[in-house]
Amino acid sequence: MELLQQIADAKAYLQSFPFEQARAGIVLGTGLGELINHIKIAHSIPYHQIPHFPESTVESHKGHLVLGHIGQTPVMAMQGRFHYYEGYTMQQITFPVRVMHAMGIRQLLLSNAAGGMNPGFKKGDLVLLDDHINMQPENPLRGLNSPAFGPRFPDMSRPYDPVLGQQLAAAAKAQGSALKSGIYVSVMGPNLETRAEYRFLRMAGADLVGMSTVPEVIVANQLQLPCAAVSVVTDECDPDNLHPVSIEEIIAVAASADKKLSDIFAAVIAGL
Ligand code: HPA
Repeated sequence: MELLQQIADAKAYLQSFPFEQARAGIVLGTGLGELINHIKIAHSIPYHQIPHFPESTVESHKGHLVLGHIGQTPVMAMQGRFHYYEGYTMQQITFPVRVMHAMGIRQLLLSNAAGGMNPGFKKGDLVLLDDHINMQPENPLRGLNSPAFGPRFPDMSRPYDPVLGQQLAAAAKAQGSALKSGIYVSVMGPNLETRAEYRFLRMAGADLVGMSTVPEVIVANQLQLPCAAVSVVTDECDPDNLHPVSIEEIIAVAASADKKLSDIFAAVIAGL
């Protein structure tokens, strides 16, 4: 199977760097790079050097895979992720998760920038994902399935690991940061939503909306890789009082909450 071979190629390349087996994988979202400052970096590898990795086309994403340590914990961190709206297939955007899993990670932590539809959410809030609704138009598991990946029909009754969730909540509390909890709906993008769409997505039961994360979480669940995700609320999506928002503002708000989020991630990862 071609995908298995591609994973093996990427793994063989990454194993050529002297580094122990990473314990945790990290995917950093739009405007969220600060966690890198917590990593004692051993290697920083541009995506384009890794066999079969797509190249990041979004300017706000750095496009490096970092190998290093947070405390004593060896980690692999993706400085920037791939999105469906960039034109990649779902298989391509989730390829790094498969590679990190093949390299032996035992937990996956993800961050993203998201629109807050829950009226209780304000710009800059941190929200732990409790569940999601997948409204992206393709599925990363579509196509031939190798038993090496896991079940053809993965269970999704608990897509986010409760233990990691509790650890993140405890770390937030210890640091005096509020961590809310919510349901994330993933859309294709790249345009933001109309008022009618925010109203519709809110009625569907979602608290947050964004253009990433869910494909990676679906693959992690198939691989039975425990994962957790935290959103930074970058814009308030009240359909009755909607203001225009730009990507620059989204990035600026994400950056303003980045330190708090990174301190929480670092504390949990150092304890793994
Ligand atoms: N909609 C979709 N994706 C987003 C948003 C939004 O309002 N904000 C940040 N990412």
